[in-house]
Amino acid sequence: MSMAMGLLWVVVCMNIVLLSFVSVSTAELQRFEHPVKPDGSLSFLAVGDWGRRGGYNQSQVAFQMGKIGAKLNVDFVISTGDNFYNRGLTSVNDPTFLKSFTEIYTAQSLQKQWYLVLGNHDYRGNALAQLSPVLRKMDSRWLCLRSYLVNTQVADFFFIDTNPFVDKYFLRQKYYKHDWRGVLPRKEYISNLLKDLDFALRNSSAKWKVVVGHHTIRSLGSHGDTKEVVDQILPILEANNVDAYINGHDHCLEHLSDTNSQMQFLTSGGGSKAWKGDIKAKRNGFKFYYDGQGFLSAQLTETDAEFAFYDMFGTVLHRLNLSKPNKILYNSM
Ligand SMILES: *[C@@H]1O[C@H](CO)[C@@H](O)[C@H](O)[C@H]1NC(C)=O
Ligand SMILES: *[C@@H]1O[C@H](CO)[C@@H](O)[C@H](O)[C@H]1NC(C)=O
Ligand SMILES: *[C@@H]1O[C@H](CO)[C@@H](O)[C@H](O)[C@H]1NC(C)=O
Repeated sequence: MSMAMGLLWVVVCMNIVLLSFVSVSTAELQRFEHPVKPDGSLSFLAVGDWGRRGGYNQSQVAFQMGKIGAKLNVDFVISTGDNFYNRGLTSVNDPTFLKSFTEIYTAQSLQKQWYLVLGNHDYRGNALAQLSPVLRKMDSRWLCLRSYLVNTQVADFFFIDTNPFVDKYFLRQKYYKHDWRGVLPRKEYISNLLKDLDFALRNSSAKWKVVVGHHTIRSLGSHGDTKEVVDQILPILEANNVDAYINGHDHCLEHLSDTNSQMQFLTSGGGSKAWKGDIKAKRNGFKFYYDGQGFLSAQLTETDAEFAFYDMFGTVLHRLNLSKPNKILYNSM
């Protein structure tokens, strides 16, 4: 081996060492691929705060999701969490799984992949049950992990578990009794998650970036803003040109625009019990608020993103159209 070849070899080896160091220093978020339609577009529905064995209009919302789902030929469904009330699932054998999910979202158009995150009520039960592959065997639509990525040709989706960020769940653990198995020590867990999210967002070259979490960032609903998520997650989203943050937690439908970036805050938490009646004062960025049941749809192409909110009769309450680059058109109806 010549001197030059030897040097080159050393450089190559160092790069391999560096690369493997990078990949072990951040535990990568699990990644899934979802195909787009033959024309390159993608459509989906988002619903949150739903599992009540059909009660509080859950079944009616599910029925309309089926109709709109067929009309848009949706590719998948997103759940923004609080999948089962009042305390998640007790185990993988909890009949609530069938009674509140499988036997409710029965429409043909909803027999697609569901991508779910956990809400705070899910942590009040056996959180690990919802993460278990056993549920996927019972209903192959079910895919619930704490934090993960879904890549498609037009958009990347970043599913984030926001529960460990909320201080009061830990300060008042005797009251909340959350199942934190797999989340402790909390500080380390949160710090790794923030690093992973930041890395995944920076590494994304998708046209559209959509982040999904249970807790609100900006909301006029009962819970209002989630301070810890505003402080810790929002800056990462703003710095990485995220287009939309989709959440539940407040049992309503709402749309606010970020005042510091192009991002839109879309709350879809109207899957069942709603009508809380305590909307907060309107503020900068406010676009739309509905206190009742309903859900959200999205249709994405390389250049356009159309979102629409529906009530439980399938009536469109509000639409927003985004287009690249950064042109925002919206219209209340
Ligand atoms: C169900 O929806 C209807 C129509 O929005 C509403 O009048 C009714 O109060 C809802 N029921 C519950 C339990 O929320
Ligand atoms: C970065 O993105 C590429 C292409 O999307 C993907 O193959 C790779 O796994 C990502 N790397 C990490 C560490 O997420
Ligand atoms: C959004 O775009 C769709 C189709 O491109 C159009 O039919 C609709 O009127 C637009 N809505 C708004 C509010 O601009």
